[in-house]
Amino acid sequence: MLVLNTLHYLAAISFLSTANAMIQNSVTIRNTDPLIYFTGRWDSSPGTWWASSGFKLNVKNFQSLALNLGPHTTTPFTSVGVSLDYGEFITVNISEGSNSIPIPDNFKTEEGATTVVRVNVEGWQNNRMNLESIILNQGASLVPYIPSELVFQFIGDSLSAGQYLPEGVNQAWPFLIGETFKAEHRINAQPGAALSDIVSYGNEHGVSCQFFRTEDTGYFYTTDHNFTTPWDFARDQPGATHLVIHIGANDASQNVTDAHFVQVYTDFIARLRTVYRVQPIFVFTPWGWPNPVGPPSQYYQGQYQKLVDLQHESGDENVFLVNTTGWVTYADVFPDNLHPTVPGHEHIASEFQAWLENWGLKPESRWAAPA
Ligand SMILES: *[C@@H]1O[C@H](CO)[C@@H](O)[C@H](O)[C@H]1NC(C)=O
Ligand SMILES: *[C@@H]1O[C@H](CO)[C@@H](O)[C@H](O)[C@H]1NC(C)=O
Ligand SMILES: *[C@@H]1O[C@H](CO)[C@@H](O)[C@H](O)[C@H]1NC(C)=O
Ligand SMILES: *[C@@H]1O[C@H](CO)[C@@H](O)[C@H](O)[C@H]1NC(C)=O
Repeated sequence: MLVLNTLHYLAAISFLSTANAMIQNSVTIRNTDPLIYFTGRWDSSPGTWWASSGFKLNVKNFQSLALNLGPHTTTPFTSVGVSLDYGEFITVNISEGSNSIPIPDNFKTEEGATTVVRVNVEGWQNNRMNLESIILNQGASLVPYIPSELVFQFIGDSLSAGQYLPEGVNQAWPFLIGETFKAEHRINAQPGAALSDIVSYGNEHGVSCQFFRTEDTGYFYTTDHNFTTPWDFARDQPGATHLVIHIGANDASQNVTDAHFVQVYTDFIARLRTVYRVQPIFVFTPWGWPNPVGPPSQYYQGQYQKLVDLQHESGDENVFLVNTTGWVTYADVFPDNLHPTVPGHEHIASEFQAWLENWGLKPESRWAAPA
């Protein structure tokens, strides 16, 4: 990866002289352009919150990309993943001002061809990209990005956000599932946060509250945007077709009782149902905190089964328990924080993929936007 990145930088440098010549005739895309397909949570600046938020473009005659970012961008930089034509995401650190995005040397397009460009913030913190404009090469133009018909909404904490991974959420199991299924994916995962709306490990609010807000709980530590705004779910287009929730570790750490946790989770599902009326909701059991010897330490044992049973009893059969017991062993986690490593996340993604396929959901055979 490091070698690759270096090569991309060298390629970018040799490309600069031609780029300079082209800059005068470059194409400026304003942040209000309706052909920018925004994903995840953006405030009105417009700027990103929550790991995984970003945008997608379908570009005709694509050769070069630069991002002009405004003052609400994280300083000194925010890390984004950039993928061309559904290829691997390459990390680029971008800052307020103009950012030329390195394009791999071997990337070639034919005259008239279109290229899908995807950009998303990787970090659960320092993840603010305040997009002012996008600069494309002379002759480039935007055509509509066609989203996948399969749309996952993931909700969670550090175990879904990719905390401790070098490339953050881009290496986390929810993101990997989105890629494998050739789906759109929105991920709202807040490390340290409980589901209950309590202060937990620096999070001013719990996910049962924050999920309905535009901003992640990082807002509390900013001076330029120290407030939250309601999220307008009509902006999630198309709406989610499947919901996946993996949460509870921090409620357990904060000593939220079994009964209270089941109540909070039940109320949360009821509120989700005002937005997602009929979509399947997959409720993960904890995989537990792995130990060097013996089984993982568990929390809320039996409670997830109980809350799913309650849904069924109240007539909502479209809530499913995903039993993740055994999905994560000590070999899958960093010994010092017990969070999954990169291979650990890949392992979880493969287990969940098998579970989903067994449930009846198959990956799309191809991406919706032609590559
Ligand atoms: C981005 O910044 C981080 C933190 O300084 C650094 O570890 C990483 O190598 C940088 N990545 C790139 C692609 O420059
Ligand atoms: C943000 O506002 C809250 C009060 O609502 C305050 O406690 C907190 O210190 C503020 N954060 C910053 C970084 O100013
Ligand atoms: C939770 O309970 C344990 C055991 O009683 C106690 O040691 C710990 O301090 C409590 N944690 C919180 C956040 O209240
Ligand atoms: C989850 O799977 C484990 C191992 O197969 C099993 O012991 C446990 O009873 C299951 N839990 C539920 C809630 O189905």
